[in-house]
Amino acid sequence: MTRVIHDPTALQAECEAVRRRGGRVGLVPTMGALHDGHLALVGETRRRGATFTALTIFVNPLQFGPNEDFSRYPRTLPGDLRRCQEHGVNLVFAPEPKAMYPDGFATGVSVKGSVTEALEGAFRPGHFEGVTTVVAKLFALVGPSIAAFGRKDYQQWRVLSKMVADLHLPIEMHGMTTVREPDGLAMSSRNRYLSPEQRTKALAIARGLRAAHAAFGAGERDGSALAAIVRAEVEAAFDRIDYVAAADADTLAPLTGPADRLLLAVAAHLGTTRLIDNTVLGEDAAP
Ligand code: PAJ
Repeated sequence: MTRVIHDPTALQAECEAVRRRGGRVGLVPTMGALHDGHLALVGETRRRGATFTALTIFVNPLQFGPNEDFSRYPRTLPGDLRRCQEHGVNLVFAPEPKAMYPDGFATGVSVKGSVTEALEGAFRPGHFEGVTTVVAKLFALVGPSIAAFGRKDYQQWRVLSKMVADLHLPIEMHGMTTVREPDGLAMSSRNRYLSPEQRTKALAIARGLRAAHAAFGAGERDGSALAAIVRAEVEAAFDRIDYVAAADADTLAPLTGPADRLLLAVAAHLGTTRLIDNTVLGEDAAP
């Protein structure tokens, strides 16, 4: 039975009780509108030894810019709870913003340097501080042994891993391979914004990333050349590109020359919908 908790103090007490009984708590933070990508993270915490999985659903106002989609972000709690129940999630935490950020809340957790300044950081000022602040709070409330994040948001996963390392938080961090639709589109809660025509155009990103994989397999090692392959596909289909870039897969610093392992990352707009995707070349087999 999935238990639903809205109150942070009750969450903390429940997780504390699980740990006292010798349980290993796994945490999957989400903003809801759950899809198979989110649920793969639940399976991952269990595979990694969690005996109790907590999934959080919170559309975190701190990580959205003033002109972003906070107010229209899909909120589908009843359906989400059904899926959590089906997947054996032990506890869902779904707080109101006021419970997470009561009047007078004044603390921000921020990671500095290229890992937050590059790529998403350059286009979404304050975004990562919003993410690290809310996830630090969730870590403090849940006290997980294990936490799972998706590489769909590769930079977010690196930023959160850096926070955990820098603060010596005793949490095993797992970065799950991106779960895709059969045609290659990376699953995302934002895909539901797309019209059927935009949904077809959106495939250009996965096509570009696959083409870059093929070029890398054939010996291309130049970051700019590999990014250009992806850009050509995305440019032809999308209305606006924020970036198509090669970066160091650990520090996220820009990379233009040759490399045996690199991140290719994309952010682009179809109408009012912004999609991101990425692949690591030289480490992961599949785009
Ligand atoms: P959200 O976009 O809901 O994603 C929750 C988690 O699911 C993240 O770790 C994300 O990387 C992962 N995820 C999303 N799509 C995925 C896919 N197709 N395959 C695998 N994993 C996928 O990311 C956030 O929420 C928020 O920023 C959050 C971390 C919850 C902080 O508010």
